[in-house]
Amino acid sequence: MSAHRFCIAPMLDVSDRHFRYFARQLARGARLYSEMITTGALLHGPRERLLAFEPAEHPVVLQLGGSEPDDLARAARLAEAAGYDEVNLNCGCPSPRVQRGAFGACLMREPALVADCVRAMRDAVAVPVTVKHRIGVDRIESYEFVRDFVGTVSQAGCRVFVVHARNAWLDGLSPKENRTVPPLRHGVVARLAADFPTLSFVVNGGLRTHEESLAQLGQVDGVMIGREACENPWMLAAVDPLYFGRPAPCLARDDAIDAMRPYLRRQIDAGEAPRAIVRHMLGLFNGLPGARAWRRTLSDPQALQRHGAGVLDVARAALSRAATRRDERDERTARSP
Ligand SMILES: Cc1cc2nc3c(=O)[nH]c(=O)nc-3n(C[C@H](O)[C@H](O)[C@H](O)COP(=O)(O)O)c2cc1C
Repeated sequence: MSAHRFCIAPMLDVSDRHFRYFARQLARGARLYSEMITTGALLHGPRERLLAFEPAEHPVVLQLGGSEPDDLARAARLAEAAGYDEVNLNCGCPSPRVQRGAFGACLMREPALVADCVRAMRDAVAVPVTVKHRIGVDRIESYEFVRDFVGTVSQAGCRVFVVHARNAWLDGLSPKENRTVPPLRHGVVARLAADFPTLSFVVNGGLRTHEESLAQLGQVDGVMIGREACENPWMLAAVDPLYFGRPAPCLARDDAIDAMRPYLRRQIDAGEAPRAIVRHMLGLFNGLPGARAWRRTLSDPQALQRHGAGVLDVARAALSRAATRRDERDERTARSP
């Protein structure tokens, strides 16, 4: 079974170590990607903080942003020394800030440079070096463009390609629009997988249900989920049974709360703001009665200050009360003539 069968996407300001720890409580088999860290930040910034993670997060991947082979090699070495299981190079981010640094999606126009980067990183570390990219940039729609990109980069030894199956339009769309406006073409990733049978392909982009994702697995080696995992984290509880044939670690949402309580306590004791952890849990009850009361309590600075790690139980009680009120209201409405 591929090590990349179910991956959780790198997401700036989302997939930090607290998000990954929470995701790990729900899905033991998932491969967890960090937010993108630039080589500049890692080589010259607060390295220890940027690389920190809990042993429970394995398998965990550090995603790098950069385009200087030497810097990327040094950054990859730091990632490996810190214990990461893989280093991934971002060739898919469309943000103007990233473009000014000449990395991210604009690297797709320079496959030879990406190959040099991959080669330098592979020479520096023993863990796998992988690439995350789009299927094209701007209005280049031709299959040959992405096929040649993969062909060139694979010659440098990259064996795993994570493909966000839409173009990056670098001329005028915001990063957010670049995740919705350019059309999704999952078929391109399936075609790459058929054309490069010795490489592994992970399809990403717009996958919202397990049904859609499992259907992809017939054609590619893995799926990567981004927004759905953070907006509706409970979807992760089905990952172990569906993708790995093993029991789910959390059978109910309350099990996830139980799993997070000691972690939250430890993090608060270590000086972390509770909000940094619980913000990832806001969507746990989405769609259920009382979900708003849960979110409201966990977002309330005074409640976080007053209750510390106990805020999870306070929020859970608020949810139950709100759900009961709603039940009673529904019953009254049903009984009224
Ligand atoms: C808030 C946010 C931040 C993101 N940051 C990154 C990033 O740091 N590196 C990256 O390669 N992709 C990043 N992405 C893109 C995702 O990894 C993924 O490719 C994209 O959201 C499509 O997958 P989805 O439809 O399952 O969300 C980000 C996406 C979101 C929503």
